[in-house]
Amino acid sequence: MSSLLKDKLESARKNQDLSIFDLLSIDDLSQKDISLVLDLAEVFKQSKTEKTDILKSVTMINAFYEGSTRTRTSFEIAGKNLGSDVINISGSGSAVKKGESWLDTTETLAAYHPKIIVMRTAESGLPNFLAKHVAPSIINAGDGLHEHPTQALLDLKTMLDYHKTLKGKVVTIVGDISHSRVFGSLVRILEKYDATIRVVSPQTFIPHEIQQFKVTLFTEIEKALPESDVVYALRVQEERGAKGYVPSLREYSKTFGISVKRFALTKPDTILMHPGPVIRDIDVHSPLVTHKQSKILEQVENGLAVRKAIIWLFGDRLDKKEKPYQLI
Ligand code: CP
Repeated sequence: MSSLLKDKLESARKNQDLSIFDLLSIDDLSQKDISLVLDLAEVFKQSKTEKTDILKSVTMINAFYEGSTRTRTSFEIAGKNLGSDVINISGSGSAVKKGESWLDTTETLAAYHPKIIVMRTAESGLPNFLAKHVAPSIINAGDGLHEHPTQALLDLKTMLDYHKTLKGKVVTIVGDISHSRVFGSLVRILEKYDATIRVVSPQTFIPHEIQQFKVTLFTEIEKALPESDVVYALRVQEERGAKGYVPSLREYSKTFGISVKRFALTKPDTILMHPGPVIRDIDVHSPLVTHKQSKILEQVENGLAVRKAIIWLFGDRLDKKEKPYQLI
């Protein structure tokens, strides 16, 4: 490892640890935790895919029980770039398919003494339950309809890289709110950074729980877009039955899709974001995906940097504290 990179990382870390042992929700993170992750992520971003050995004694398991391209590959590259042993398991390749309980499978993985288990599940709240009963740090890589905290951290970095602050900035979130774990984490982190949050969606995609957040609801996209500093499009989640909540995907695209004409209503410095995968011409019209104001691939790049920061902090705690947990 280059001593220059190590010096930069140690200087950005300032001997700090995260205040948490698992990353399950954005609610768990203090402002100091988020700033630490962002500071380290910037150093990692500058280093691109430079390899280091700062986690060489660490084993990390990526347990993806639901499909993923971006999150799974970025955690794997992050772990390997930092020198750790990375083991990948998938839903179809695990003993859960044979009837083993989630708890028994996860305790089995924990018996190999990994420092970190990254977990994606279709079941909301499953990482929260398992985190209480195993020693490794559990990182929620997306659980059902609930949260996707590392996505929100990379999204925050993408917004701050461009706009510097979110105070007084308008972030307009468009699409399928009720089936979106991305929304669950994004709205929480935007509130922490004092953004003005707008939500544009068919009424049928608005969950009752929206009332707990400080958001302004719009049903006409043309009214929400003009003052927006960030337009954040969400995918209609067909795998969670979302098609049953709109007359048709064509009608949804006509009424709520981000078209070239609609994006022209925004300001010259408005950025367009999407967590991916983009369903072209439904969520976002094709020419906008690679538009100069689109930050979709920058989000992917920031995902690698943010995940490196998180796994370094969990994999190498300076305070050497052990996570409290209870076997059952
Ligand atoms: N944004 C996101 O979670 O993408 P993947 O499903 O490809 O990981």
